[in-house]
Amino acid sequence: MDILTQLLTPNSSLTNTLHTLFHLPDTGGPLLFLAPMAGFTNAPMRRLSSAHGAALTYTEMTNDVGLLHDSDKTWHVLETFEDEGPVVAHLYGSEPATLAEAAAKVEATGRFAAIDLNAGCPVHKITANGAGAALVKDPQRIRDILAAMRRAVRLPLTIKTRLGPHPDKVMIFEILAASEAAGADALALHGRFTSQGHGGAVQLDLLAEVKSRARIPIIGNGGVCAAHDAWRMFRETGVDAVMIARAAIGNPWIFEEILAGLASGEEPPAHDRTRGDTRRALSEIRETLEAHMAAELALLRRIRERYALPRHVIDADEALATTFRCHLFRYLHGLKGSSHVRGRLHELHTLADIRAAVASCLEREAAYRSAAPWLQEREQGI
Ligand SMILES: Cc1cc2nc3c(=O)[nH]c(=O)nc-3n(C[C@H](O)[C@H](O)[C@H](O)COP(=O)(O)O)c2cc1C
Repeated sequence: MDILTQLLTPNSSLTNTLHTLFHLPDTGGPLLFLAPMAGFTNAPMRRLSSAHGAALTYTEMTNDVGLLHDSDKTWHVLETFEDEGPVVAHLYGSEPATLAEAAAKVEATGRFAAIDLNAGCPVHKITANGAGAALVKDPQRIRDILAAMRRAVRLPLTIKTRLGPHPDKVMIFEILAASEAAGADALALHGRFTSQGHGGAVQLDLLAEVKSRARIPIIGNGGVCAAHDAWRMFRETGVDAVMIARAAIGNPWIFEEILAGLASGEEPPAHDRTRGDTRRALSEIRETLEAHMAAELALLRRIRERYALPRHVIDADEALATTFRCHLFRYLHGLKGSSHVRGRLHELHTLADIRAAVASCLEREAAYRSAAPWLQEREQGI
């Protein structure tokens, strides 16, 4: 273990175990992962995140029964690019037998570094069927599911979960024990309760307690938006890796920025959203947006070739414009013309519309910057 990792992980570190498990290259730095996000973490977002420093990425959540029924609508979610780095297939379901069988099918594709069980999604459509966050209340079921999956696959097996259903019912210690007993290799913990959804305080004290009791690596998640947040999570909890979700949308640079912020081993400055005196080069934003859109098009082309999906799902230009709007708005966040683009998002129906909106936003920002020469532009992104 290198000095920085030791500094950042006061409890006994299992970072090396994660490297071995997922075959991650040893860069000597702390591990940052891209969290699973339905509707976002497809191959293009994963590839960009990986290129900018995410050591491991997760697919969108994928239904076990859909995989077993060979539903094209489900399988296309698991499409990967050959050059996107190690990816974890993130599955949801509630039955041990179907999840085990689905995991075996996923393993047989040879595309994934690990298989993960979703035990934390609070969306009603998912919990109503006993999946996602419904499992947080039922550690025995988690144990049965993971044990069945363990018997079915050789790949590393992980679980992503929460602290418990609500603050009066902490279940994570039972979930940890169940996961370890069933043979899970690592546990990713979103440090919030199901009742909190994706908002409210992240309980670093509980995360620290889980880490101190765990025999398997713990991946910490929740509220990490900048180097200082990651530093606190590593420092105060001793987790073996930090997982980032929302802050990576439209911001693949976050991984390298955090890694740079942690490189000295000293406490990075607290994040100040109002500062904004050092700005990313506009050319870099434009190029990354273009690379992201090109990757989305390549993925759609591949899906069109391989799967029999309804026309409206795979009509490239329209589909791209629709799915890309949420990314677009986040890429442009904080730039001068961005609120104008945000107000017109529903009018962007084609790639050409998106390009025109981007150009106009970047022009406004360029004009603003040239009128305010004290604003520095970052040359190389960080
Ligand atoms: C749009 C969106 C989709 C998400 N989808 C999933 C999912 O499919 N599976 C899952 O385990 N968590 C999902 N999450 C939760 C995130 O992985 C993460 O646990 C949560 O956002 C907290 O991390 P953050 O504070 O870095 O955003 C989703 C979150 C968002 C915002």
